[in-house]
Amino acid sequence: MLEIKNISKSFGGLMALRDISLDVAERQIYGLIGPNGAGKTTLFNLITGYYPATEGAIRFFGQEITGLRAHKIARLGIARTFQNIRLFGTMTVKENIQVAQNIHARSGVSSLFQMYSARERRLRQEADELMNRLGLWEKRDEQSPSLSYGEQRRLEIARALALKPKLLLLDEPAAGMNEAESADLLERIRELRETGITVLLIEHDMKVVMGICDRIAVLSFGELITQGTPEEIQANDAVIDAYLGREDD
Ligand SMILES: Nc1ncnc2c1ncn2[C@@H]1O[C@H](COP(=O)(O)OP(=O)(O)OP(=O)(O)O)[C@@H](O)[C@H]1O
Ligand SMILES: [Mg+2]
Repeated sequence: MLEIKNISKSFGGLMALRDISLDVAERQIYGLIGPNGAGKTTLFNLITGYYPATEGAIRFFGQEITGLRAHKIARLGIARTFQNIRLFGTMTVKENIQVAQNIHARSGVSSLFQMYSARERRLRQEADELMNRLGLWEKRDEQSPSLSYGEQRRLEIARALALKPKLLLLDEPAAGMNEAESADLLERIRELRETGITVLLIEHDMKVVMGICDRIAVLSFGELITQGTPEEIQANDAVIDAYLGREDD
C-alpha cells in the first residue's frame, strides 16, 4: 500500500535520509528502528507531506503522493501521531476527538446532504467507540493536560484514528510509558490491525517492536541498513552494532 522509492532528504548540507526504499503491505505492522538522529521522524515527515523529499517518490495505493500538501495526504488516508505529543490543551478528551472528526467530515461532499442529527449521532457514536478502544472512556470529560503521559499518547492515537486512516504512523507511542502501559498499548495496536488498519511504527522499546511487528526496517545515519522479520533483525550483526547493543535507551 505504501511504496517508498529511493527517497533522499537533505537539510542544507546534512543528508538526513539517503536513498531509502521500502514497501509496506496492507495490514502489516511495520517497525522503523534506529539510533537517535537516524532519520526516522524525517521519513514520517516526508510521507505525511510536512517536508518535500529532495529525491525519490512515495506512492500510496499506487498514487504518487510526493509533493502533495499535508492535508491532501491526510485526506487520502494517512494519519500520524507526533514524537512530542500535540494535543489541544484546553479541551477534554472527547473534544480532542470531535475536532479531528469534524476536520475529516468537512472534507466529505456527501456530508452536506446528510441529515444533520443523524450525522451528529453517528459521529458521537464513533467518538465513544474510539474512547473505549483506547481505554479513555472513564477520562472522556477530563482536560487533556490532566491525563497521565500514557493516556495522552493514547488520546493522540484516538485522535489520529478519528480521521479514519488506512495507514497510521506512530512516532514512539510507548515513549515515557511504564511496562504495564506499553504492554497494554501493544495489545491495542494489535487490535487496530484487526480492523484493517496498517501501522508504521517508530519505537525504541525493543520489547514492543519485536513483539508486535511483522517486518522491521533499520535506519542508521540516514541509511537503510537492513529490513526483515523480527527474527532476522535480531540475528543481524550490523543491527546489533548500530543499535541493539546500545544500553542507553
Ligand atoms: N527540520 C529540520 N531541519 C534541519 N535538520 C533536521 C530537521 N529535521 C531533522 N533534522 C536532522 O535530520 C536528522 C534526522 O532527524 P530525525 O528527527 O529524523 O531523527 P530520528 O531518527 O527521528 O531521531 P530520534 O530517535 O532522536 O527521534 C538529525 O540530524 C536532525 O537533526
Ligand atoms: Mg524521531
